[in-house]
Amino acid sequence: MSISNIPRLLFLLLLLVSFIGQLATFGFCQETNELRRDDFPSDFVFGAGTSAYQVEGAVAEDGRKSSVWDIFTHEGKVIDKSTGDIAADGYHKYKEDVKLMSDLGLEAYRFSISWSRVLPDGRGAINPKGVEYYNNLINELISHGIQPHITLYHLDLPQTLEDEYGGWLNPKIIEDFTKYADVCFKEFGDRVGHWTTLNEPNIMAIASYNSGFFPPQRCSYPGGLIFNCTVGNSSIEPYIAMHHYLLSHASAARLYKEKYQAKQNGLAGLNLNFLWAPPKTNSPSDRIASKRAIDFYIGWAMDPLIHGDYPESMKTRVGSRIPSFTESESELIKGSADFIGINHYNTIYIQDNPSNATDGLADYYADMNVKMSVTKNDTPGGQFDPTGYMPSNPSGLQMLLQYFKDYYGNPPVYIHENGYSAPKNEELNDTVRIDYMNGFIGSTLKAIRNGTNTRGYFVWSFVDVFEVLFGYTTRYGLVHVDFEDRELKRQPKSSARWYSNFLKNKKHDLVDLKIKKVPSLSKKYSSQ
Ligand SMILES: *[C@@H]1O[C@H](CO)[C@@H](O)[C@H](O)[C@H]1NC(C)=O
Ligand SMILES: *[C@@H]1O[C@H](CO)[C@@H](O)[C@H](O)[C@H]1NC(C)=O
Ligand SMILES: *[C@@H]1O[C@H](CO)[C@@H](O)[C@H](O)[C@H]1NC(C)=O
Ligand SMILES: *[C@@H]1O[C@H](CO)[C@@H](O)[C@H](O)[C@H]1NC(C)=O
Ligand SMILES: *[C@@H]1O[C@H](CO)[C@@H](O)[C@H](O)[C@H]1NC(C)=O
Repeated sequence: MSISNIPRLLFLLLLLVSFIGQLATFGFCQETNELRRDDFPSDFVFGAGTSAYQVEGAVAEDGRKSSVWDIFTHEGKVIDKSTGDIAADGYHKYKEDVKLMSDLGLEAYRFSISWSRVLPDGRGAINPKGVEYYNNLINELISHGIQPHITLYHLDLPQTLEDEYGGWLNPKIIEDFTKYADVCFKEFGDRVGHWTTLNEPNIMAIASYNSGFFPPQRCSYPGGLIFNCTVGNSSIEPYIAMHHYLLSHASAARLYKEKYQAKQNGLAGLNLNFLWAPPKTNSPSDRIASKRAIDFYIGWAMDPLIHGDYPESMKTRVGSRIPSFTESESELIKGSADFIGINHYNTIYIQDNPSNATDGLADYYADMNVKMSVTKNDTPGGQFDPTGYMPSNPSGLQMLLQYFKDYYGNPPVYIHENGYSAPKNEELNDTVRIDYMNGFIGSTLKAIRNGTNTRGYFVWSFVDVFEVLFGYTTRYGLVHVDFEDRELKRQPKSSARWYSNFLKNKKHDLVDLKIKKVPSLSKKYSSQ
């Protein structure tokens, strides 16, 4: 990717992942000692998360084979040309990490299983070493009283299935995913209360098949602003992939309900990334545009899960390019999620985009046909200023949770990811992250008090990890990882102490957080 494309890349990523850290200008507020764990219901769960490729490393160890992310990173596609080959070495450090979680008082850990570690060829022979690793991790968590919340798929398709039949674009994936899920339910399910089938299919559909910056990097005009994809069709593929993601989820979740739920007593849900997308002005056209954007982001998955079909606004705009559900598929998907996992980072403001200049050639964004901005005062226009800042907007989460209550009949919701990204040279005394978490946890509490069915909150991420596309240039972790150090030393940041005090109902006094100053830290990185 050329440097001149980086601003555009950042612009698009604003929509996908939080890129708040280095650009934000918050006033840090000292009034962070109001929230307490006890304000929340006792069966509400607090934790933190990671995903397999981002934390584990050990990519060629003990029989694991490549996923699409191994190939992608090794082609130098990440901004800092990094890979997850070692990442935070979670594969070898899981005991230390679980001990740290326990010391901090985390109640749950959200992680994902690497499909190609358990089934190296995507299907067929099980890798006993892979099964052993996840058994060890689960047992370690349980022996420390920490609930495992497991995601079956977090971006990392076994490369063999991509090569063999085109992965998620082929309906064959539904059967293979269901068989993989069956193996996991069978091997691990006796100890797992919360299964999530897929992480963020709505983002994977856009990033992999519309904009082309996730593997397998497929896109075509007017999608794919960043990479010149050599293959793909942004007019149809995002919709086809999403269709298969949804059916794969539904098929695996149905299998769980029919074969395992009665004896294992767990739940099977789906995770989605949801921006909140309010209208920028009160004009009728902006309000309609906002609802359309919400339909495209949220309704795309939620309407099928609740009502068995895509939103009318999408069917109207996308026409025959969006697949239709057969009656039996519609029945399969309706009610298939016991809960919804939400990854939420940002609010964007929506305006109508009357200038539809797509010559009839449309991608996902042209179909949505709105203009987005990160604040109410931004100059309207198709482009954000990527050197601008992303304000933290906790009330957006409250409104999002309220939307699930008012519009979808109040299904159980877990906030699976919420977190703050800082540059890699951030201080261990990460007060801005504390402010961010305090805001969003407070917003969650308000939503609960107004009757939303919100059941849990997980910080992204537990430790600093390999961030997709940003590699090691940004950090989300509660716990700092020294990626320059062979031991990949862990050190809890102030935010970890703050979260820990919150969970233990202790008063938060930032001065008392007992963070050792590491003055060399920023110098070390900035001199690179
Ligand atoms: C994509 O192609 C255009 C036109 O050929 C070129 O200017 C641009 O640099 C290419 N972008 C990348 C990321 O290679
Ligand atoms: C994408 O698919 C549509 C519908 O089949 C077709 O009309 C269009 O030409 C295709 N575009 C590309 C770039 O292949
Ligand atoms: C853009 O407008 C044209 C003409 O009104 C219409 O045929 C086309 O479907 C529109 N495209 C999108 C993406 O809305
Ligand atoms: C609280 O819930 C009620 C009923 O669903 C709704 O009308 C109201 O707008 C909600 N308040 C907030 C602040 O979301
Ligand atoms: C962390 O920063 C806050 C805000 O600047 C300050 O009040 C506090 O003393 C610092 N704590 C440590 C341990 O340096």
